[in-house]
Amino acid sequence: MSGSARAFPEGFLFGAATSAHQVEGFNRHSDWWQAEEAGRLPFRSGAACRHFELYPHDFDLARTFGHNAHRLSVEWSRIEPAPGRFDEAALRHYHTVVQALRARGLEPVVTLQHFTLPHWAAADGGWLGGEQHIHRFLRYVERVVEALAPEVRLWLTVNEPTVYAKRAYVAGDWPPFRRRNWAAAARVVAAMMRAHRRAYTLIHRHRPDALVGFAHSAPYVMPRNPGSLRDRRAALGRDLLLNRLPLALAGRRFLDLLGINYYTRALVHGRARGLARLWGADWPGEDGEGPRRYSDLGWEIYPRGLGRLLRRFAALGVPLLVSENGLATRDEELRVRFLLDHLGEVAAALRAGVPVIGYLWWSLMDNYEWAEGFAPRFGLFAVDYATQARSPRPAAHVFARICRTRRLPDPAQGHGPGP
Ligand code: FCB
Repeated sequence: MSGSARAFPEGFLFGAATSAHQVEGFNRHSDWWQAEEAGRLPFRSGAACRHFELYPHDFDLARTFGHNAHRLSVEWSRIEPAPGRFDEAALRHYHTVVQALRARGLEPVVTLQHFTLPHWAAADGGWLGGEQHIHRFLRYVERVVEALAPEVRLWLTVNEPTVYAKRAYVAGDWPPFRRRNWAAAARVVAAMMRAHRRAYTLIHRHRPDALVGFAHSAPYVMPRNPGSLRDRRAALGRDLLLNRLPLALAGRRFLDLLGINYYTRALVHGRARGLARLWGADWPGEDGEGPRRYSDLGWEIYPRGLGRLLRRFAALGVPLLVSENGLATRDEELRVRFLLDHLGEVAAALRAGVPVIGYLWWSLMDNYEWAEGFAPRFGLFAVDYATQARSPRPAAHVFARICRTRRLPDPAQGHGPGP
């Protein structure tokens, strides 16, 4: 690869992403917290990373390690703990948070809904609550946008509708714990995308120059055997369901940018039963290209998938933001390799003319990984949960150097020591 193929343009956004419930601690008014308290989830978020208080320190780390952007979510259940009762202190808090980012030269990217709901909204049907739920979501969005729009230009309305619908209504291991309810899952995705379109318009009313999108979970789907019609059909079905449908529902007209959360590939085969015939089943064996590699959560590591998806999504004609990419591992060599390989794909896509505007690592620090608890380690910074101390991992140093130089290290020279 030539020099320029390894460089990033001026103004490119480099940073990390978090979500409120996973880092803040004590989000007592959410459906997740309630389910944790009721013993319906295997792990409790508790104090999490105490980011609600420690955010100035965490943002200092992000700045010191070269980041110029940061994605966070605001917690609806803090802002509206009871129906129609807005907590002005919570709104002021988030205003101070985004100011703290700006003061450090970090561009805020704000997610309005990242999986959790106020428990009262969840008890009243959540995303299955029809027009009433969309209406209350927009009422909340309006308050947030009024408070934060002067500081925030980049907005992601909802996070990963397909992942949420699958875990909460099909796998049933996330609140509200419904199992195999495909019809409900479809309605939830449709409702979230309807909410996205309306929130898009609302945000633009307050800030015409806003860039609004949503965070799309995009697996790279491949047929197990490209020579098999059955496998190809299964891959097409999976891709339609997970990648094309949410985008079609969002509508190109309601996207100023697309957030892409990329973690893994789905290698699918068509020898499935029942409904799964339509979207195939995951192939657990070899792929004929050598040994497959996995993260600690069993997600396959497949950097090339990111490059291919970026090239494909370029056809939308909107800027693309890698809004999450990372892995759970305790192998620091592997974490660095993952970072370099995926950034290599981004750099190559840029060179091919794909309009990528930024890359955000999941996550700034270790945190509460939902139903998987605190064991998965996703952070650029390790968190000692007993003391809340943060310490940089090798990948934090490698990333810092890339952020500062806007260039990937020359493979021949290795990635070198700290910042
Ligand atoms: C994504 C979620 C994020 C985090 C990562 C590991 O699906 O958006 O909250 O859990 O996975």
